[in-house]
Amino acid sequence: MFHLLLSRNFSFYLLFFVMSCQTLPKQPTDSQRGTLADNGMVSSAHPLASNVGVQILQAGGNATDAAVATFFALAVVYPRAGNIGGGGFAVCRWADGSTNTLDFRETAPNAAHRDMYLDENGEVIPRASLDGYLAVGVPAAVEGMWELHKKNGKLSWQAVLAPAIELAQNGFELTAAEAEYLNKYREDFIKQNKTLPAHIVKATIWQTGEKIYHKDLAKTLQRISEKGRDEFYKGETAQLLLAEIKAGGGIITAEDLAKYHAIWRKPVIGNYKNYKVITMPPPSSGGIALLQLLHATEKYPIRKWGHNTARTMHAMIEIERRVYADRATHLGDPDFYNVPQEMLLNKNYLKKRMADILPHEKTPSEKIKEGKVERIESVETTHLSVVDKDRNAIAITTTLNGNYGSKVMVNGAGFFLNNEMDDFSIKVGHPNQFGLVGGEANAIMPNKRMLSSMTPTILEQNGKLLMVVGTPGGSTIITSNYQTILNVLEHQMTMQEAVDAKKFHHQWLPDEVLLEENGFDDKVKAELQQLGHRLEPIPALGRMDCILVLPNGKLEGGADKRGDNMAVGY
Ligand code: DON
Repeated sequence: MFHLLLSRNFSFYLLFFVMSCQTLPKQPTDSQRGTLADNGMVSSAHPLASNVGVQILQAGGNATDAAVATFFALAVVYPRAGNIGGGGFAVCRWADGSTNTLDFRETAPNAAHRDMYLDENGEVIPRASLDGYLAVGVPAAVEGMWELHKKNGKLSWQAVLAPAIELAQNGFELTAAEAEYLNKYREDFIKQNKTLPAHIVKATIWQTGEKIYHKDLAKTLQRISEKGRDEFYKGETAQLLLAEIKAGGGIITAEDLAKYHAIWRKPVIGNYKNYKVITMPPPSSGGIALLQLLHATEKYPIRKWGHNTARTMHAMIEIERRVYADRATHLGDPDFYNVPQEMLLNKNYLKKRMADILPHEKTPSEKIKEGKVERIESVETTHLSVVDKDRNAIAITTTLNGNYGSKVMVNGAGFFLNNEMDDFSIKVGHPNQFGLVGGEANAIMPNKRMLSSMTPTILEQNGKLLMVVGTPGGSTIITSNYQTILNVLEHQMTMQEAVDAKKFHHQWLPDEVLLEENGFDDKVKAELQQLGHRLEPIPALGRMDCILVLPNGKLEGGADKRGDNMAVGY
């Protein structure tokens, strides 16, 4: 009898076990994961830069020290986006749970004006906001790194700059991608510079594995290391920058440089289900847009519907269409334009805004206008992620805008200047290089910050650090972050799988869905077309650099194989 009971119980438990195995979330194996580490992790666009960050952590630096060191290393080894001539945003979550963000976005020079890229007939002068000296916003990166380090750095400023100076001075080997890009932009470098940057434009083409030296940049970084941020904004580097700008007919002045300042801003914080999302406020459009996307997705059972199925994608595309229409009208520099932030994130507003999504049909973008928001009186491109042993976390997205920015290199100082002015709406309704349109909120005004899509983001679960995410990609930054987050939270992917997963993108205008090539089933594509979506293939979306804290406390770095990105931990 006892035996029978036991065996009956046993079969009951066995049945229960089999059933629960079927419903248990899949447990990924370590081989499905990216880089694993116990202590700290740095994920960035270049292996040498990630290594620098980890060296700094191992030398006793905290997440701030590592982020600043990685940033400067990227300015050397990844000059198409890593920079000291550009700007960016940082989102920080400290081990005590406090959060803040640093806005080190470029500003329009004082002499800029709203029609500066239009001809006498009011037509856009092709590429004027993209190429050469007039495209340059007041560089913000050095001030940004100085502020970050001043507030929370532990090691000395000299110590965090040292590895970048060494890489620039002693040279490093080019990856295949870096060699390819330097060759691809050779003619642009020649055309856009008054003085040829000879160490970048040489007689023969660059080869993979060839060593490149940035001697002028090494000297510039050495001066910044010795004299601090004022060297860039008021010292010899400022003089070299101003001489370059003058030679090329640019409009940045000594006053523009001297008065540039980064701004600590309160993050925008929202929830997706039980997860807290800490992200970048305006002048990034990304934080608000990401939270709108996530809030609106909550009601759809996308886990049940499955990853990248037509049903899931249709819902996400329709949400994206509406969110990007809001972006075009309502977002700009909050110091110049009254951004209706609270209203855009209000759950009732979003419910109404998304109410006309049809399950079996797309809504053509021409029928979608921005949401009507009540005015409220008071308002307010490469990415790197760092987590240290105390679980301080920093997400930084930084950019020159286009590859190598304006393509102008400051003669004698060895760094490229951004072409961030194109992120303004240079004419109402005229698409920028990412096809984004904008209006009054993002019109050019002196000293104003241009609207950005950069969305460095940190997630918490139960009051603890969960995930650090971010990517370059212009307008697609927001939707790549959106999908990567959902891939982990809903589709139960590892960090690396979430990064690797094929991505799609819709931004209201143009009315098309970008799909990564060879990543989507023909059946899914046919179903989407049947719902009315126009599909456009694109070689790659995003270069994500992310870190996930696993339930056992270990860190998983997810670095994008679409680029040379690498997560290094210790
Ligand atoms: O701030 C922005 O939104 C753009 N300047 C970012 C550019 C970018 O991500 C380029 N990378 N692909």
